[in-house]
Amino acid sequence: MSEVLSFPPLKMTNSEPAPSPLPLSVRHLAFESGNTPILKGIDLDLGTDALTVLMGPNGAGKSVFLRLLHGLLTPSFGQVLWAGSTPGRTVRKQQALVFQKPVLLRRSVQANLNFALGLRPVANRRQILERALEDAGLQHMAKRPARVLSGGEQQRLALARALILQPKVLMLDEPTANLDPATTLAIEHAIARARTRGVKVIMITHDPHQARRLAEDVVFLHDGKIAEHTPAAEFFENPQSHAAKAYLAGDILI
Ligand SMILES: Nc1ncnc2c1ncn2[C@@H]1O[C@H](COP(=O)(O)OP(=O)(O)OP(=O)(O)O)[C@@H](O)[C@H]1O
Ligand SMILES: [Mg+2]
Repeated sequence: MSEVLSFPPLKMTNSEPAPSPLPLSVRHLAFESGNTPILKGIDLDLGTDALTVLMGPNGAGKSVFLRLLHGLLTPSFGQVLWAGSTPGRTVRKQQALVFQKPVLLRRSVQANLNFALGLRPVANRRQILERALEDAGLQHMAKRPARVLSGGEQQRLALARALILQPKVLMLDEPTANLDPATTLAIEHAIARARTRGVKVIMITHDPHQARRLAEDVVFLHDGKIAEHTPAAEFFENPQSHAAKAYLAGDILI
């Protein structure tokens, strides 16, 4: 695939530049389901300019954490603060979250993108839509119902839709799980391109090769807590926590 998901500057009508939603500050964050603790007191600070990868074994609480960051779940205790604000509507408007299983409308590919564009007053709508379709390699299936796309095509559409309004923060939950190498690479290019535009990316992956390719820093979650948060090179060369060492070695972690 050639150019993937690069957009002309978006001209919003009637809009003032939105204040930066960053930095992120998480304090004593806990989440319980019934009486079961899922996240057990997380403190984390993330700045504006890095691709942060979130790793950890199945059930560690990574997806729950991402949902808490985006305000889709409410903390049982503690706080998520984006530049001092809790993740309400104003904060969420500057973010996009892509789920592992793409959540698409039961409409055409084009209508899915159009729906996202309709959420804001955008001046050059037609042009942005066509460019998004082309860059995601989906122009020849623009009229096709989204639900009949293959898994990889759906994931490309979900990412294109997430990026179409140029969010300042992009959160991705295993965006390339089950995808073939070419589609994985196309999605990685799209993510890297968003990074070059200054988008803050927080991404979950289980693929250490992908994390090595993309991550600038790694947050390793284990058993509902952060076992370590280190620059990526350090994490892969010399992980500090027992949990991360075992995970990278392929040992089963309980
Ligand atoms: N919305 C929710 N409400 C309550 N409990 C939840 C919710 N979502 C997930 N859980 C529970 O929280 C725990 C952690 O789930 P989570 O999906 O965050 O794990 P994960 O680290 O993303 O794992 P995986 O790598 O398998 O995706 C699981 O035991 C799950 O059943
Ligand atoms: Mg998950």
